[in-house]
Amino acid sequence: MPRPSLTACSALVLISAASLTAAPTLRIDAGQVTGHVNPAFSGLMTEEINHSYDGGLYAELVQNRTFQDDPKNPVHWSLLQSGKAAWMGLDPDHPLNGALRMSLKLDAQGASTAHRVGISNDGWWGLPVRPATAYRLSFYARTDGPPAGALKVSIESSDGSRTFAATEVPGVGGEWRKYSATLVTSKDAPISSANRLVLATESPGTFWFNLVSLFPPTYKDRPNGNRADLMQFMADMNPRFLRCPGGNYLEGDWIATRFPWKNTLGDLAQRPGHPGCWGYRSSDGLGLLEFLEWAEDLGAEPVLAIYAGYSLAGNHVKPGPDLQPYVDSALDEIEYATGDTTTTWGARRAADGHPEPFPLTWIEVGNEDSFDKSGSYNDRFTQFYDAIKAKYPRLKLISTITPDQSPVACVHSRTPDAVDEHDYWRANGFEKEAPTHFEKLNRSGPKVFVGEWAAYEDVEPWTEASKALPPTPSMKAALGDAAWMVAMERNSDIVVMQCYAPMLVRVDPNADRAWRPDMIGFDSLHVYGSPTYYAFSMFSRYHGDTSVRATLSGLNGAAVAPLDTSVTRDSATGGITIKMVNVTGNPQETAIHVEGADGLAGTGRAVTLSARPEETNSITDPTHVVPVESEFRGVGPSFTYTFAPYSVTVLQLSKR
Ligand code: AHR
Repeated sequence: MPRPSLTACSALVLISAASLTAAPTLRIDAGQVTGHVNPAFSGLMTEEINHSYDGGLYAELVQNRTFQDDPKNPVHWSLLQSGKAAWMGLDPDHPLNGALRMSLKLDAQGASTAHRVGISNDGWWGLPVRPATAYRLSFYARTDGPPAGALKVSIESSDGSRTFAATEVPGVGGEWRKYSATLVTSKDAPISSANRLVLATESPGTFWFNLVSLFPPTYKDRPNGNRADLMQFMADMNPRFLRCPGGNYLEGDWIATRFPWKNTLGDLAQRPGHPGCWGYRSSDGLGLLEFLEWAEDLGAEPVLAIYAGYSLAGNHVKPGPDLQPYVDSALDEIEYATGDTTTTWGARRAADGHPEPFPLTWIEVGNEDSFDKSGSYNDRFTQFYDAIKAKYPRLKLISTITPDQSPVACVHSRTPDAVDEHDYWRANGFEKEAPTHFEKLNRSGPKVFVGEWAAYEDVEPWTEASKALPPTPSMKAALGDAAWMVAMERNSDIVVMQCYAPMLVRVDPNADRAWRPDMIGFDSLHVYGSPTYYAFSMFSRYHGDTSVRATLSGLNGAAVAPLDTSVTRDSATGGITIKMVNVTGNPQETAIHVEGADGLAGTGRAVTLSARPEETNSITDPTHVVPVESEFRGVGPSFTYTFAPYSVTVLQLSKR
């Protein structure tokens, strides 16, 4: 055989080198629909963790407002006196009522016009003040006898050197009564958080206090409402559902400390609160109605998780007669959310201020019941399923155990409408698994709700070691998260909903943080989104209603594919949305071929989130990593686009 000439030899080498480094190619067949993206595909997962509610979304500014946070000390309260002896302490002998049994006693016998005596609260690692702002104060108080002189109430700097708002509340008498006042800060009050709320007297007397509450303006001005800045951050994510009230918070450590929805309704003075499962007590100021209104205010539907008879310490309620009260309670809860005002619980909702029923499609039965080693979940689920479907046939029920998680423990007596899968993985684990994970699912089984997922960089979220790390994830995690999101969206024929967890974290160093990474960080005055927050928002805001066939090639068989993708099409407009994740530090010049989508405009829009893996956002550098929007030209049936290193990109191609 003649030897190949040098030139031919070089050509061979060149060809094989070219095939080794073949440019990535994305082939889109816009006519090949592979799934319908649920309009409610992206949502929010929430629970009382990391002070998500108390000291977080729930706008209450007073910490330990009912004096139950510590049975021995009135934590977060201080005695304020100038010059004369006075005393303050917890008093269980003068309860406000059967629900709020611990009061705060103030002995102010030494008070006079020259000697103010009072109590002060330091808020949630600060008490935020903004200029010219009205704060709603309310409290219950009584004296030991005849009416006392006016109480002087004020918002002051922590050291008392500056008063930003002050007013008087006259005539506290010998019976418990609710008092209210509006405190308006001065125009020159500095935006600050090292502040305190003061209730003081200049007349001698003995006082008892309970349910001392101070609210700033809230989102949509709801009384007992939510922090406006946090709500706006969520609204900007365009969430279509709110999975509530948990998570582990639904279950509680013990059956007795599960989320007690009936005790979270109505008058705050009738809400005793309950021990949470993430290291602190819950006031239940953010109760069932407030969850439903929170969803409503975001234009989202609640995905209501009902307690199903299993709690975190491992105890469960025996299916059968023992479980029936819990099933009945769940039926009441659903009626509270959806019943008209002729029903018992619908009428109760109306009495609580919301006559209109809430929309509800999905009910989740429990949370992470694979931890129930008794194997009782199938029977418990079945009992809830039969009762709920009998009364509400249109409701869809979610099982908390997936078939691949435990073929033995998962529900087999009934067919759940969906199963809730929870995925907490290392970022590169997500990247590696994303191309095939949901593709492997059995299409004749139930739909999948990915009700909790998050990438972590290296340290497992639930460990002590994770507490030393920044509360929110870096770009490294966001790339893993984006890989998971393309995988979920691409498999929208089986994945019906998805939400990241946990969503919120109070970042103050002394706040009880139980878990990281979390998507949105905040303190008293500031909110910021992690790179994952922005990646998530890109996915929830930009997508069509159908997934279409999209094939990536030229990735050269790397263990972790450099690129991963999902493509959707909008049936109404014909527009195509391409999501691409580039997990490498190299720009990826990609040939894109689009079939079945004639008449695309020559100019497309790109939204790009790109940063080195270690880069991140923080409370002091909140917008270091944010998406950038741009236009690009040359769109046609075949065009080239270069995806930035370490990037999450949305390309929007619209019709001419
Ligand atoms: O998101 C934090 C916790 O992780 C949830 O409460 C629980 O469901 C899961 O184990």
